[in-house]
Amino acid sequence: MLRSVVLGIALTLAVGLLGAYVLVESGYIPANADAEPSRLETWMAHTSLRATLKREAPKGPNPVAPSEENLLAGVRLFAQDCAFCHGDARGAAATPPIAKGFYQRPPQLATDGVEDDPEGYSFWKIEHGIRLTGMPSFRYALSDRQIWTLALFLKHMDKLPPAVQQAWQQVRSWPPAPVPASQANQN
Ligand code: HEC
Repeated sequence: MLRSVVLGIALTLAVGLLGAYVLVESGYIPANADAEPSRLETWMAHTSLRATLKREAPKGPNPVAPSEENLLAGVRLFAQDCAFCHGDARGAAATPPIAKGFYQRPPQLATDGVEDDPEGYSFWKIEHGIRLTGMPSFRYALSDRQIWTLALFLKHMDKLPPAVQQAWQQVRSWPPAPVPASQANQN
């Protein structure tokens, strides 16, 4: 009796695994980026991210003080490393074309911001990136202080002091800065 139950379970598992393998190999699991994510995929991605952040994100305050100078540094870093995916102060009204081609789409942060998130959460996302999305880990490109400076800017994006707001409004996410003619590719 027990043997046939165990055999039944093993057989069901084997058929399930074989089915999954055939499905993946057949090319019926979509692999394209120019589509809307399914509800199941979105749920899985968001739930695992939320749980990871709760466990791993730094809990303390931002070591970078919210001074005008530091916020300006945040605008500059964002313009250089983030705006071509996450947009500029015009938000979703001026989504950069490259951002439209992502699966999952990068949120246009001036419209769909993260001011409500703890700064430690933003720090973690910038430091480590978000798996299976286009959000890269910046740990090899930026120092911890630069990442905290970006987390500071994201936290205050909707309530910047006037001089910083002015600098932010001048950032353009697209087109990329032109290459000087002498360096342009001639092809
Ligand atoms: C190549 C495109 C790309 C670049 C460059 C990029 N990101 Fe992202 N980012 C994404 C994508 C795509 C997501 C959405 C991931 C998801 O849906 O979970 C994302 C998500 C995020 C989130 C989470 C937003 C939310 O609503 O929870 C934050 C914060 C963020 N990025 C900050 C940054 C910062 C700061 C930079 C620059 C240092 C940056 N990103 C650079 C593509 C990018």
